[in-house]
Amino acid sequence: MTMADTVTGTDITDLVLVEHDEFRSRFASLWVMRGEGDVAARAVAWRVLANLLEVHATAEEEILYPVLLKRGSGQAPAETVDAIRDHNQIRDAIKLAARVASGTDFWWAAVQACRTANDEHLAEEERDVIPDFRLHTDVALRRKLGARWQEFHAVHGAARGISDDDVDPAEFVRDNS
Ligand SMILES: [Fe+2]
Ligand SMILES: [Fe+2]
Repeated sequence: MTMADTVTGTDITDLVLVEHDEFRSRFASLWVMRGEGDVAARAVAWRVLANLLEVHATAEEEILYPVLLKRGSGQAPAETVDAIRDHNQIRDAIKLAARVASGTDFWWAAVQACRTANDEHLAEEERDVIPDFRLHTDVALRRKLGARWQEFHAVHGAARGISDDDVDPAEFVRDNS
């Protein structure tokens, strides 16, 4: 169960923000575990977080950004390209971490790269994307999309059926505008 499951309102932007806080909290916990000896627990904590990040990025690409492109401001295409690039950076860091032994310096470097990319990305979404989205949609639509968001998570929890392939930002904007 993720924190998103406990939200009573279904406005998609609230659900997105709750997950952003969950990522920050899970990264902070992972760093606390850095000095501890439980390698297996740390590897599991990372796998859970990585899965959540992958589901979140894909859910945004399926449900949030296509609506932003159709209804958002003139900045929406640029915001979307930027976001997809960030999602790819996060995916790439997760894939890199999967290729090296957990807990090694290489592994921490990949996890750190993921955290840095994610921190910057969350800040941009919160500063630019979410306000743009809220300004150009009404609550009824956001609740409808929130229901889709929760359904997506029910189906793809633990990254079931989620591709970790990079997405072409320009192609994405073209296909969804
Ligand atoms: Fe997000
Ligand atoms: Fe995102």
